[in-house]
Amino acid sequence: MPDQAPIILRADDEGIAKAAAVLRDGGLVAVPTETVYGLAADATNPDAVARIFAAKGRPGFNPLIVHVPDPEAAARIAEFPSGAHDLANAFWPGPLTMVLPLAPAAPLAEAVTAGLPSVAVRVPAHPVMRKLLSEIGRPIAAPSANPSGRISATTAQHVAEGLGARVDAILDAGPCTVGVESTILAPGQNGTRLLREGGVPREAIEAITGPLTSDLTPGRVEAPGQMERHYAPRVPLRLGGDAQPGEVTIGFGGEPSDLSLSETGNLQDAALRLFSVLHAAEALALERGAPAIRAPILPDEGLGRAVNDRLRRAAAPE
Ligand code: TXA
Ligand code: MG
Repeated sequence: MPDQAPIILRADDEGIAKAAAVLRDGGLVAVPTETVYGLAADATNPDAVARIFAAKGRPGFNPLIVHVPDPEAAARIAEFPSGAHDLANAFWPGPLTMVLPLAPAAPLAEAVTAGLPSVAVRVPAHPVMRKLLSEIGRPIAAPSANPSGRISATTAQHVAEGLGARVDAILDAGPCTVGVESTILAPGQNGTRLLREGGVPREAIEAITGPLTSDLTPGRVEAPGQMERHYAPRVPLRLGGDAQPGEVTIGFGGEPSDLSLSETGNLQDAALRLFSVLHAAEALALERGAPAIRAPILPDEGLGRAVNDRLRRAAAPE
């Protein structure tokens, strides 16, 4: 219903100021980041944070990422073990999240960290998000702006379709430029663990940290939210092999298909287009009454790893 639709704010000075005002009042605003849209609330306000969990249908044991404008603000909520500084210098602002020990005086609502002694912190690169963070002057908690377990949102339109009136406003800055969520790392005394493949490729991180430790086999939950089934369309998704009759097909690198992640086989483009293509494939499959969606498996390198991770989870059985 139109009177229940969220307000769409243009990402200009006026829109950003309005978004900041809604957040300060304890509201929910879908915000652009370079990875995916986030469902933002004031991380210091327990009622506002509770509304994030309710809007997404997110289980309370799954903690949120806290967004801050710079490493100094990060140091007010988290401690930096050895290794964390190098990573911050190399990849912030950008699509990297670090799980760090929670600082004793961190002014965060308890639900943000789901009661854990650690906090996930990120300094995003998107200019609109950076302006919003400096304008509000408080840490912003934001998971991806999709209903829990469903396809992430890389446009304001995706957010409106998925969450509708459950958000107060959407700050529309156009499509995200990375397209997959941030890489999540846990730097510690015995090296750095990789908790989620994402927008910073593993190769770029290992050039700084040396070999990462961790086994990202789906089902081995390291980040509480890394559930085996996630990013799932409402029609079953199947990986690899030949298309079966009636299936909606997603291709890569010029193979014939209904939709393509990248005609030229470019992994960065595939990451950028992944969630839009999944949303489109879902709509097409529902329209045609297709039994399934067939998706490709990409080369396991660079951003291909993050795309494969999302596709594997989207294809995992319920
Ligand atoms: O790119 C991104 O990271 C986006 C944008 C909006 O910043 N956010 C995002 O949030 O992907 P979300 O909630 O969809 O994924 C955050 C992941 C979850 O798997 C959660 O379990 C994990 O981070 N996480 C958060 N706090 C944690 C902690 N203290 N320890 C381990 N994992 C944590
Ligand atoms: Mg998510």
